[in-house]
Amino acid sequence: MVNIQKAAMIGCGAVGATSAFSLMQSGLFSELVLIDANQQKAEGEATDLSHGLPFGRPMKIYAGTYDDLADCYLIIITAGAAQKPDETRIDLVNKNVKIFKSIIPEIVKRNTEGILLVVSNPVDILTYVTLKLSGFPTNRVIGSGTVLDTARLKYLLGEHLQVDSRSIHAFIIGEHGDSELAVWSSANVSGVDLNHFCELRGHYNHMEAMERIYTDVRDSAYEIIEKKGATYYGIAMAVRRICESIIRNEHSILPISSLICGHYGLEDVCMGVPTVVGRNGAETVLDIPLNGLEQRKLMASADALRKVLDGIEL
Ligand code: NAD
Ligand code: LAC
Repeated sequence: MVNIQKAAMIGCGAVGATSAFSLMQSGLFSELVLIDANQQKAEGEATDLSHGLPFGRPMKIYAGTYDDLADCYLIIITAGAAQKPDETRIDLVNKNVKIFKSIIPEIVKRNTEGILLVVSNPVDILTYVTLKLSGFPTNRVIGSGTVLDTARLKYLLGEHLQVDSRSIHAFIIGEHGDSELAVWSSANVSGVDLNHFCELRGHYNHMEAMERIYTDVRDSAYEIIEKKGATYYGIAMAVRRICESIIRNEHSILPISSLICGHYGLEDVCMGVPTVVGRNGAETVLDIPLNGLEQRKLMASADALRKVLDGIEL
């Protein structure tokens, strides 16, 4: 029997530790287990985080083993190699598939009822690999998808238009990576068409601004990794947001990655598209309207992922 107040973080590097910090502040869980191949690292992070608890809400944070996963509702996986400045996310595939082949069977031996949230890159590929290796139902294997990229888009649009980024409704979809796309055709600011809102704020060069903002979003991680070696705060907030929607059964629409079955005319690939997220994980994958160009770009993104999947032995 899984306990909705208990979660685990597998991988306690920059992303795992920062996500644990954001979860600790969220008050969503009463127990958080940290696991890392480097046991000392997990222990150090657990102790450091626990020292902050008197300033927050009571909970248990400890370095554990796979046996502690048996009753976890949510298991978040951030383990694995991260990009170096000259690498793409896809370049990580061989190393991280190998790591997932060692992690997923250990989880499944102890827990077959929880939700698996994949964050490690390439996230869409590893979500698919996790789905196949675990044999879990498709709604309970999700990836962080383009939740972070969508946040980057909203942030940049908010800055451009000098409006609260939370009032912007727009998505980045497809691969969390180089082939992702922005869905401009339905983007709006609280119901006002994006181009019309731009004009209200004195911006008329729509094509140029959209291209610049999309490129900034797509290349954000490269720029941050070049400057500081890794990205972790943005993804930590994204992890918290996904967990909130699951644990509080919010049914929020988030572009998480899960198995696409017939949506947008695509099959058998995991990638980020708007999805209703609740206590059962990925509850309903949505077919949002796309124009012809967006549909073609989404298919190209799926093709790029499928080519990588075809090279993996499971
Ligand atoms: P990191 O190198 O700081 O940490 C990785 C951790 O994984 C290390 O502590 C390592 O000991 C651990 N690890 C390796 N093999 C393991 C195993 N078999 N079992 C348990 N732990 C193991 O890397 P990071 O910066 O934390 O990034 C982690 C992953 O998250 C990378 O793949 C990175 O690309 C990805 N990432 C994804 C997003 C996203 O939006 N999905 C954002 C940022 C980073
Ligand atoms: C990101 C990681 C590297 O920050 O995937 O987008």
